[in-house]
Amino acid sequence: MPVPAVRVRATIGVPPGRGLGSSATAVVGGLLAADAVAGRVYSTEQRVDLLDAAVELEHGKHADNIAAALLGGLVVVTRDERNGAWYAIRTFVPANLRAVLFVPNFPMDTILGRTLLPTGYTKVDAVHNIGHVALLLAALAIGDLKGIGAAMDDRFHEPYRAHIFPQLPDLLCAARAAGAYGACLSGSGPTILALAAEHAEEVAMALEETAHALNVDGRVIIAEIDHCGASVEADPYRATSKVDKSQHGGIVLSCTNCEIHFTLGRTDYRCDCGQPLDVALGNIGTEMNSIAWRQLFDERLRSLKAVDRSGVWRFRDLLLPLPDITPITRPEGQTNLYLVGRSQDNGGYRRIGEFAGLDQLWLKHEGENPTGSFKDRGMTVGVSIAKWLGMTAVACASTGNTSASMAAYAAQAGLRAIVFLPEGKVAAGKLSQAIAYGAEIRQIPGDFDRAMADVERMCLDDGIYLLNSLNPFRILGQQSLAFELLQQFGWDVPDWIVLPAGNLGNTSALGMGLLRACQLGLITRLPRIISIQAAGANTFYQSYQTGFTEFHPIKAKTIATAINIGNPVSYSRAKAVIQATNGLVAQVTDEDILHAKAIIDRVGIGCEPASAASVAGVRQLVTKGIIHPADRVVSVLTGNLLKDPDAVLLAQRVALGEV
Ligand code: F0G
Repeated sequence: MPVPAVRVRATIGVPPGRGLGSSATAVVGGLLAADAVAGRVYSTEQRVDLLDAAVELEHGKHADNIAAALLGGLVVVTRDERNGAWYAIRTFVPANLRAVLFVPNFPMDTILGRTLLPTGYTKVDAVHNIGHVALLLAALAIGDLKGIGAAMDDRFHEPYRAHIFPQLPDLLCAARAAGAYGACLSGSGPTILALAAEHAEEVAMALEETAHALNVDGRVIIAEIDHCGASVEADPYRATSKVDKSQHGGIVLSCTNCEIHFTLGRTDYRCDCGQPLDVALGNIGTEMNSIAWRQLFDERLRSLKAVDRSGVWRFRDLLLPLPDITPITRPEGQTNLYLVGRSQDNGGYRRIGEFAGLDQLWLKHEGENPTGSFKDRGMTVGVSIAKWLGMTAVACASTGNTSASMAAYAAQAGLRAIVFLPEGKVAAGKLSQAIAYGAEIRQIPGDFDRAMADVERMCLDDGIYLLNSLNPFRILGQQSLAFELLQQFGWDVPDWIVLPAGNLGNTSALGMGLLRACQLGLITRLPRIISIQAAGANTFYQSYQTGFTEFHPIKAKTIATAINIGNPVSYSRAKAVIQATNGLVAQVTDEDILHAKAIIDRVGIGCEPASAASVAGVRQLVTKGIIHPADRVVSVLTGNLLKDPDAVLLAQRVALGEV
């Protein structure tokens, strides 16, 4: 593989040679930079796995510094005696806590510093220090800042090292007197660390003045506490809009992992820790009560204006209240909710309820969107934002539907569209749409996951706007599925909502929408969400089986090409949603999918194979007794029958028992 030319500029935020872990920081920085060049970006969980390799690079030493540089925040690190592996946990640090450092100009010899320490400690001192570690962790856990300060009192190092740093006690006292919660000698060098919140400036000043009075040369640094660990800053990772979009009514991008916020101008949509960013809407939606919101949304149903009729923009006040945005809308949404349970007296449709074993079953047919799939809900918002940000070209990787939707909305908006498709793995209807709507097509010799990695890289390199569901505005638009469904239910709540799952954007969006509706009082309880995967593309299901403790990307293979995905981008978002709604994940075979599809097709409703996975899953869970026959269930059909004409005959043959 050709290695790209790179120029590396490393910035270590701490002065070297002062016992502050600069050498460990350099090792971690180098390791992550090399991985980033190779296209690997790690989540926090994955970074823990790098610990052993990084400690080895540091000659088996300084695991404490390595772990902190890797993970950020306050880290507890320990070695597992059984297998010799290092293990680290990052604990919570109150957001307003700041570190004030006083870095003296004289180097403190680490070896000399160590030789000053006694060979043994009294039991009283040992209990004192260990007890203070416990106090520190407990204080951090509950955000008790005074407790944190008390916990910094040290009897192992400070009293002995003060011999070569006689001014130390006075400096520590000065910091505490100026409002620091605690102060101590940091690491093995001469630097003083004080922790403070609102009085950080006063503490800095007190340290400076006291050091001056005591004739100690040095400098004071006020540092924000880093919550993510080392980050690789290549220009592409900082893709931002050319138009200034920094201030927007409290709407920001946020990383739920690191609790960091970014302005809407940042367009790479991944935090430095690798986690996809979400749109944080702050207090939006709390300006009216739930009755007023419902009335407004119900009134808009009677309007003839496209933005009111759209099943996305009808809810604009809750989704994206940007006054200066022009919606690019068809209008989308407003899809039918078909009653297909056994208790319905509606002839043919009952057959689906009989097949699934349910008295009350509804099909929400998202294949009735303008381009024939649920993707239009997210795409109308994604493309509108692309225009608002001043972008001229958009791109996505797709198993087909996203590309069809993006191509159509980009054409409407006058934007250049580039789609990355896994060669030979896209259903005919979808490919035809992308071609017809004028997208530039790049066939990727590989699967969707490869196309996804390629397109993300191209977007970063060339400043093209990424419109996969990694893009949080797509997820935001797709949340409207929850609002529209609830409105169709008269703001009542079904027991279960079941949907097919691939890249996990839709599971995430539906859940986030429902949680939001609940927070705003539009509903008073949550339905349980069920994600159904194809058995050949079941990485989310496998992870669910381990209680979400493990996650392993796989090579996917299913006839339902739309969900033929082995490394879903929205894994963490979807995991949170399944946990928050007490939901579950199940898998169905290709045969189950085709069988369900044949039944849905036969009654005249029809859908593409991936969509039928939801009904196949419902049937399985009713058979297993997990869904009760009297439960109220909504199954989401995500794509239109015409998307995949080749699957029609195959499904009929499966239903007739010929395959
Ligand atoms: N159903 C259909 C018809 C789809 O096209 C997709 C995804 C899904 C279900 C799964 O939704 O990814 O949000 O979990 N299609 C994407 C695409 C990947 O490129 O069109 P998900």
